[in-house]
Amino acid sequence: MLRHPSTPLFAVAFALLAPLAGAQDDGPALGTQRMTQAEIVNGLHPLQDIRAHGLKIFATPFNRLDGYGDGPMNPLDTTSPGGRPTLQNNGTFLRVNGLDAQTCMECHSVRSFATVPFSFGVGGVGGSNNNAIFQPKHIDVDDEGQSGFASFDGRYINPPFLFGSGGVELLAQEMTHDLQRIKALAPFSPDTDFALFTHGVSYGSLRWDSTTQDFDLSQVEGIEHDLVVRPFGRKGEFATVRAFDVDAVSFHFGMQAVEHVGAGVDADGDGVVNEILVGEISALHIFNTNLERPEIRDWNLVARMGSHVFESVGCADCHIPQLTTRSRELVYRFPEVDTAPYENEFLRVDLSTTPAGFEAVPQGGLVVPLFSDLKRHDMGPELAESFGSPLDSQFITARLWGIADTAPYLHDGRATTLTDAILMHGGEAQAARNAFAALPAGDRVALLTFLKRLRTPETPADDLLQ
Ligand code: HEC
Ligand code: HEC
Repeated sequence: MLRHPSTPLFAVAFALLAPLAGAQDDGPALGTQRMTQAEIVNGLHPLQDIRAHGLKIFATPFNRLDGYGDGPMNPLDTTSPGGRPTLQNNGTFLRVNGLDAQTCMECHSVRSFATVPFSFGVGGVGGSNNNAIFQPKHIDVDDEGQSGFASFDGRYINPPFLFGSGGVELLAQEMTHDLQRIKALAPFSPDTDFALFTHGVSYGSLRWDSTTQDFDLSQVEGIEHDLVVRPFGRKGEFATVRAFDVDAVSFHFGMQAVEHVGAGVDADGDGVVNEILVGEISALHIFNTNLERPEIRDWNLVARMGSHVFESVGCADCHIPQLTTRSRELVYRFPEVDTAPYENEFLRVDLSTTPAGFEAVPQGGLVVPLFSDLKRHDMGPELAESFGSPLDSQFITARLWGIADTAPYLHDGRATTLTDAILMHGGEAQAARNAFAALPAGDRVALLTFLKRLRTPETPADDLLQ
């Protein structure tokens, strides 16, 4: 007699045979091995294991059972995560405004576009196809507005790499600490200008105004008035990689971090709770910030000449070749308090000894050869975005380390060559751009030769991939 497959007899037979046949039910892609913050805080995992778990979070293609997706949409809020319409009515992908990938690796996976075919590297950049399209309400593909291009009103952003991000975060941590201290001192000397100077970078000045009994912040430059250095995001909006990562899982995957929504809370109504644990965001953060740093390779005489041209035409005023930290240790904390960058510490890692491999200086700190001042600059109307934000034309100085490998260039990848990227500079960089355009051919070649020596790491995360 034929029996229907869902009858108990079949179920029993399946239960007995399935392990032998290697059969598997669908389950969360992340599996059941989760990492908690308590385990990390109590030192139960060596750094290598934490990094390996971070790599797993970074590279796992999450599915619905992990909590992928937004769940029922809120009709009152059609743009922010948690309430996005999707192209497929089962709510999987939209591509525009997030729900655009299943894993971080889809966009951060190219180590070098300088070879054919390009080479992969965990934590790398993405091509134009990987651009994030952030909160557009209108894309005029037919050019009905007759602007000459398909104007739109969201943000269109090309993925940068995460190599060396630990050194950048360490710099920001120390710089924020310094700026907060300067601010705390100012009220003791009213009506006196205090230079907001730290690690060789000037963020303008502030004073305590005795008449208004408040800070006068009108001379603060390149940074928010809270004096927190935020190096991450092309507009400089995130103080730490952790802050970025928490938003990334939500924006790209519709996965809610426990630190955003609370433990055991199904904030997006998709039937899954604890989608990403606090410990897992910590592991992701620690993995990202211990990735190898970019490096200079094949240095020669022409490159050296080019580096002098780079300084003489004013590029180095913004793209400062290197900044030096005081300490070698990046301090991880939870929860993070932006204005108090050492509060709630749970771990510190020496970035000269991990794969990050920053060069230590005898005085105690690290050299971070980032080619940036970690300040925002107005880059003029041509490069401006059309989001409708006061930051539309402002960007944090792009870090040029690794630039030889990371075309296309600029925030949206509009420049396919280095020369184009430089010629598209405007606003505060107009003078340097014009000086570059006026260079004799030999100097221009030397400058480009120099930039092509700035390379991404050759084998990122190699020790975890064995
Ligand atoms: C659809 C492509 C895409 C996916 C998927 C993606 N990213 Fe990104 N990532 C970007 C883009 C674009 C930016 C630049 C965003 C900006 O400037 O605001 C970025 C920037 C970042 C930054 C800041 C880097 C810097 O130097 O400013 C971090 C950190 C980051 N991503 C981590 C992640 C993590 C972790 C994941 C997975 C949870 C992830 N990203 C998934 C496209 C992506
Ligand atoms: C006023 C500050 C400033 C000066 C001066 C300046 N830049 Fe930039 N540069 C920036 C900013 C900000 C960006 C990011 C713009 C964007 O993403 O749209 C950038 C981006 C770049 C990029 C593309 C980086 C990437 O990853 O896509 C290159 C290459 C570059 N600059 C080279 C130069 C050179 C060479 C000079 C000198 C001729 C120079 N810059 C002068 C601020 C400056």
